[in-house]
Amino acid sequence: MPTHLVVLAAGEGSRMRSNTPKVLHLLGGAPLFQHALISAARLDGKRVIVVGHGGTDVAAAAQDVDPEIHVAEQATQLGTAHAVSMAAETLKDAGGDTLILYGDTPFIRPETIEQMQALRSAGTDMVFLGFETEDPGRYGRMVTDGDMLERIVEFNDASDAEKAITLCNSGVVLADTKVLMRLVSEVGNTNAAGEFYLTDLPEIGAKQGLVARVARCDQSETLGVNTRADLARAEHVFQEHARRANLDKGVTLVSPESVHLSFDTVLEQDAVIEPFVVFGPGVKVASTARIRAFSHLEGAHVGPGASVGPYARLRPGTELDAETRIGNFVEVKNAQIGERTKVNHLSYIGDAHVGRGSNIGAGSVTCNYDGVFKHKTEIGSGVFIGSNTMMVAPVKIGDEAMTATGSVISRDVPDGDLAVARSRQDNKPGFARKLFQKLRARKAAERG
Ligand code: UD1
Ligand code: CA
Repeated sequence: MPTHLVVLAAGEGSRMRSNTPKVLHLLGGAPLFQHALISAARLDGKRVIVVGHGGTDVAAAAQDVDPEIHVAEQATQLGTAHAVSMAAETLKDAGGDTLILYGDTPFIRPETIEQMQALRSAGTDMVFLGFETEDPGRYGRMVTDGDMLERIVEFNDASDAEKAITLCNSGVVLADTKVLMRLVSEVGNTNAAGEFYLTDLPEIGAKQGLVARVARCDQSETLGVNTRADLARAEHVFQEHARRANLDKGVTLVSPESVHLSFDTVLEQDAVIEPFVVFGPGVKVASTARIRAFSHLEGAHVGPGASVGPYARLRPGTELDAETRIGNFVEVKNAQIGERTKVNHLSYIGDAHVGRGSNIGAGSVTCNYDGVFKHKTEIGSGVFIGSNTMMVAPVKIGDEAMTATGSVISRDVPDGDLAVARSRQDNKPGFARKLFQKLRARKAAERG
């Protein structure tokens, strides 16, 4: 039987003090809600996201990440049980189980979900995820008998004795889909907050002979994001995990705490990352490649043995083949750079294809943009581009061609040709000395 996923993401998140819906704030380069989808990536059922505040934007972002996701709208936020009931239509004939995650709680581990599934298959109708904490704050308290869950009391409704309970509700629930949807429709809102609480399910279920149990996880998994400070703390935690995972798999991070990773960064074993490197989304670095200090990469693939930086910028669509060299103050965008090709200093290569074993001289630029359209530059293999060559796209420079330093190349260069596209030098004998004398005399006269 499939296990479906419902991600609750309708809350306003007013404590973020933001015009951006909370779940669209980025953590490790991905919107917060996407981390819930990643946690549940091993589930095989339907995926539903419940949206409310900023719903159109959240829905668009969710469908961008996962084109098959179903969006359920909760027009007014009447509570967590009400939010879950918004997914009822999508899941009405779906059978199987349903897992509830929050869009603002990014660190639930797949292993924890598996542990809940194991408990569920052992004759439990509903599994609620709890955690022990020394500081239970305003979390819902779990009233248990062994691992049997009798009920959950929200902080606002709890007695002093119940407030003393240290086993808290994370909000994560796994239950039979039909049972879940029936029970959420039976929840009332006679409580301190006047909300429809998902946490009423164990008590309602018990009256019908349904069994609820508690699975436990570490509190760190339940870290929720409510404020900018929480988001910063979550980013810190995310980065620590990601760095550690890369070190463990055999990547060298010379100064791990200074390297910033994204949710999908792939660094192969024996890649070397120098200090202060930022990886935006979509980067893959092959084994034995070296990313030197102060480089910024996003949407880029770096081949084996390649060297990037220091101070390089790789933008989306960059494909660097094996043993390429991208040096300081070089920007590459939407360009394929062939094996052993070097772009060592102060260049911009965009919307281009460069063959193997070519050398792009310092300060060269592919002039790819005419103010309206982008155009392509093609550079062959074994090419030598002289320093400060401007390549006015669309333009093609053939294999083993050369361009003279300072050229503005606006016509194709055939294979093997040398293109010189600059004005001829004219030396005027003794003219510089005469000019200096004249200028210095004028300055002296002005001083009086
Ligand atoms: C909830 C739990 C509480 C638990 C805590 C853990 C209930 C009643 N309480 O409390 O036991 O300890 O989480 O963090 O479930 N949401 C909607 N629509 C709504 C209401 C909420 O989509 O109508 C979403 C929110 O965006 C959020 C999540 O559900 O992602 C939790 O809602 P929130 O209001 O933060 O619940 P808590 O009061 O923290
Ligand atoms: Ca909360």
